[in-house]
Amino acid sequence: MSDNKKPTVTTSQGYPIPNPFETQRIGNHGPLLLQDFNLIDSLAHFDRERIPERVVHAKGSGAFGNFIVTDDISDVCSSAFLNEIGKKTKALVRFSTVGGEMGSADAARDPRGFAIKLYTEEGNLDWVYNNTPVFFIRDPIKFPHFIHTQKRNPQTHLKDPNMFWDYILQNQEAIHQFMILFSDRGTPASYRHMNGYSGHTYKWSNDKGEWHYVQVHLISDQGIKTLNNEEAVKMSGENPDHAQEDLFNAIATGDAPSWTCYIQTMTEEQAKALPFSVFDLTKVWPHKDFPLRRFGKLTLNQNPENYFAEIEQAAFSPSHTVPYQEASADPVLQSRLFSYPDTQRHRLGTNYAQIPVNCPYAKTFNPIIRDGAMTVNGNYGSCPNYLSSIENPVEYKEAKGFNYQANQEVYHGPAQPFHWKVEGDIDYVQASELYKVLGRQPGQQKALAHNIAGHVSGAIPKIQQGVINLFAKVSPQLSDDIREEILKINPKQGQCPYSHQKL
Ligand code: NDP
Ligand code: HEM
Repeated sequence: MSDNKKPTVTTSQGYPIPNPFETQRIGNHGPLLLQDFNLIDSLAHFDRERIPERVVHAKGSGAFGNFIVTDDISDVCSSAFLNEIGKKTKALVRFSTVGGEMGSADAARDPRGFAIKLYTEEGNLDWVYNNTPVFFIRDPIKFPHFIHTQKRNPQTHLKDPNMFWDYILQNQEAIHQFMILFSDRGTPASYRHMNGYSGHTYKWSNDKGEWHYVQVHLISDQGIKTLNNEEAVKMSGENPDHAQEDLFNAIATGDAPSWTCYIQTMTEEQAKALPFSVFDLTKVWPHKDFPLRRFGKLTLNQNPENYFAEIEQAAFSPSHTVPYQEASADPVLQSRLFSYPDTQRHRLGTNYAQIPVNCPYAKTFNPIIRDGAMTVNGNYGSCPNYLSSIENPVEYKEAKGFNYQANQEVYHGPAQPFHWKVEGDIDYVQASELYKVLGRQPGQQKALAHNIAGHVSGAIPKIQQGVINLFAKVSPQLSDDIREEILKINPKQGQCPYSHQKL
């Protein structure tokens, strides 16, 4: 700093640069000199500014805030951050779309990510949720297939309605999530006006060793607001960053958005009596059988100081958890436990946990996790590089959780009965329930048909017909409405303006 407190411009190494806008050259016209460290320092760093974007959920927005306990649920969960009404825990939230690239439009028809990091006294707890209570798959091996169909055609480099709809025609357990995606909830008006859902079944326990299956619901205190298809398309063109702008401005002007947090709980016995597997991510737990129980409030009241440092570098994972909250055996969740830290080691580096936004506030000690690129935390100094009984003895905490038996034969087959055998074809039951829910809201059933038709009308006739037949399994009326809407868009049904394939 100079006397007047203005910062002095320096190289990255601290050398004061008298002429930051000038390059060292021979004479007036160059060539340039290799000794010009300011130039090389600046260009070489600029050349490396980009890190890989997230392979999914690349476009996002985030903010800080807090989680406050509003109700006692100690009979269900003994995690320390929940142990007192009024207790406040610092939180980071990142919202996102899924399929598009980093610069894609916020108004895209897509699920929205709703990822939360709670900096608790027992370590970081990440709730990596979506704004939909179900998902497209119940077997994780399908995830890369599914995601590829939502991204770009490898030849045309275009989004491809044939790929998109071909996937669901082959994997019809996705029908429930497709119904939500193509309802107006598939295009939320902003991140503030949507809910968050764990989707997965988790296992929470108390200090008596009792456990429940749990689903978490974060219900927007701002209410649900959506865009219709035409509004979303218009918004994508006029302001591709509308949700980022909305969130940032709301927080900057003191209008802090919040969500009331609820759990649904289920015992093991109740789970065995369900008509579907509790580990099937394509199903919800009906409210009337599993009522919502309030336990907290999440509020966002602080914008990031720096988007790249605090939001782009944030690393969320369902495997970042705290005592008394565990993953269930849901196979999609089990796979996610691996996938997130794995991609983050690639995206951010092996020491991603040392980046301040990812660093637990809780004290950590594990001296075998050391070295590696970008070690910036002192690297445990002279502490032994193993758990030594000679120097620096440590103590282990008592295990908090529960044991259960898991010794059955290895099953390698179609992923239907993950846990308890399910009779009959149940994948259309909840999709049909949702169609009835839409019927309670004026115009929403027709909007669903309109939104599906607008998208599938770009596909080849065989796919269009397949989709019409598929939705007949949800409701004959829906199927008829989709056909009618397609014919309005493509009077000569069978024309395929966007496809490069022969009809
Ligand atoms: P309910 O009638 O008790 O619940 C219906 C729920 O549907 C509402 O509470 C609301 O959940 C949600 N909803 C309302 N409008 C829409 C919409 N336009 N698009 C998507 N969801 C909407 O019945 P059930 O619990 O038996 O569920 C019936 C169907 O509702 C399910 O098959 C599922 O598709 C859908 N649903 C159920 C949820 C659950 O956890 N049980 C959660 C969300 C949807 P919310 O208050 O969470 O917005
Ligand atoms: C992001 C994988 C299913 C919610 C990601 C990322 C990967 C991934 C690799 C990028 C992470 C990063 O770069 O930091 C998977 C796999 C899945 C799956 C393999 C299934 C097998 C789900 C489900 C949900 C979900 C079911 C919600 C219930 C999210 C969210 C993000 C994300 C919210 C963005 C996190 C952020 O904001 O940084 N996923 N995912 N994913 N995923 Fe998944």
